[in-house]
Order: sequence, then C-alpha cells, then structure tokens
Amino acid sequence: MPEFIHVADADDVPDPGKVLIEVEGEMIALFHVGGSFYAIDDVCTHDGGPLVDGELQDYTIACPRHGAKFDIRTGAALSMPAIRPTLAHDVRVENGGVSVRLRETGSGPSGNPAPSTVPAAAAALSAPSQTTQKADVTTKSHDGTVTDTTDSPPADTQSLTSQTLSEDLVRELLKQVKDPELFVNIVDLGLIYDVSFNPAPDNSKQLVLIDMTMTSPACPAGPQLIADTKRVVNTHEDVAEVEVRIVMEPPWTPDRMTDDARDQLGIF
Ligand code: FES
Repeated sequence: MPEFIHVADADDVPDPGKVLIEVEGEMIALFHVGGSFYAIDDVCTHDGGPLVDGELQDYTIACPRHGAKFDIRTGAALSMPAIRPTLAHDVRVENGGVSVRLRETGSGPSGNPAPSTVPAAAAALSAPSQTTQKADVTTKSHDGTVTDTTDSPPADTQSLTSQTLSEDLVRELLKQVKDPELFVNIVDLGLIYDVSFNPAPDNSKQLVLIDMTMTSPACPAGPQLIADTKRVVNTHEDVAEVEVRIVMEPPWTPDRMTDDARDQLGIF
C-alpha cells in the first residue's frame, strides 16, 4: 500500500481554500474546509478539466469548463455533465503537516467505487430507450428511397414525416436522437443551436442545415450523434439532404438543458 507523503504545512492552505499539489507524479487538488483537509484527483471525469481552478463552495468544487460539480470529501459527481466520480485520496494531518496517501480506483470507501457514487438518476438511465432503437431502424438515401432495415418506423415518426417541413418539426424529429452516454435526447440537452433550410438544386425538396454542438470538444459520441441526426431528418419526404455543422461557440453548458432533461438526469 502507498505511504502517506507530506505535501504541505496546514498553515499554508487557507480555510476555506485549495491548492494544486503533485504526489508521486499525480496532480492532486488539496482542499481545506471547516478545519479538515481533503484530496481528490485534479481531473474532471467529464472531459479532464482542472478541478482546482473551479469555484469552491462549502464541500463542492465546480469544474471551470462545463460546470460539473464534485464532492471534495468523496469525489462523487454531483451534477451533469459528469456522471462518474473523480478519485478521492486519504489525508492525514499531524503536527501541523498535511500528508496524502494515493488511492487506486475501487480501493475502498474513499477510493470511489464507481457504481455507488454515480448520481442515482443517471445510473438508473442505464438502457437506451425504445425511441432511440426505433430511430435507428429507418434510413433514407438522398434520392429519397426509404429503407426499412428491421422494423417499421414508430407511428409518431410516420405522422411527423408527413407534416409540413419546418424548424419545429425538425426539432421534434431530432428528439429521437439520444446521447448514448446520458440517454437524453439532443434537443432537450440543448445541443441543437440552429436549423435552417435552402431549396435543393431542382427546387423540389429542401437542404437542411443544422448547427449542433457537443457537451465537450472531444465528445466520443460525436460521430454517432451526427450520423443519427442526418438519418432521422432524412426520413422526411421533403428533405433532399442534411448538413450538420459542429459549432463550439457559444460552448455548451448545463443551463442549456430543458427542464425535461434535468428531470431525467435528476438535476434540480
Ligand atoms: S470538463 Fe469538467 S464539466 Fe466538462
């Protein structure tokens, strides 16, 4: 088992306060709150943001990049877009000196066994919805040929695709596309910034241009979300082609989510 390593003098860290320390090559955020010290990895589990640069409020640190919050005592993820805990480490204060012992994932109560520290609502959302599965089974080529690969499209999709093409209708169609990690649709997540139309060259159909963002620049689900977005909008008979533009300005933040998305994720 790793040893406790002296990292600071207690008087060096104001209360409340935080400092970045290095322990055996790992960057650790050390907190001093209410007379006690806490240490967690200086890594946001959403997309690697530096937690120590965030705002500290009581026992909560907010990632400065997209706002995920973590409990500094346990490393538990408290809010979106992070759903996994960051690693918490053992801290000892003796004779005015603060020492940290690094833990490994799953090594004990403060070593953050992942399942127990994932927010309950996020953990409960553990399977893709039926709507997503339905959305994945219908494709249409750009010449308008509809291919039903496994099953008929759901009734509500059929009724949507027969309605007049509009921005509202495209957004309704896009509610069938769900983030594969969060299981919330991309419209309610606030990922769709703009929908516009241009006549196709032969003027019989529409080119649909969608400005869309991601919850982080390196979102691993990006290619899938783009493909699903194109496929779902292409099911409308008046659509000739769909172009998806990924925009990162303004950056996505959790406050772009609708109340429905917040309810699904257990954020209040
Ligand atoms: S990197 Fe921390 S919330 Fe996105």
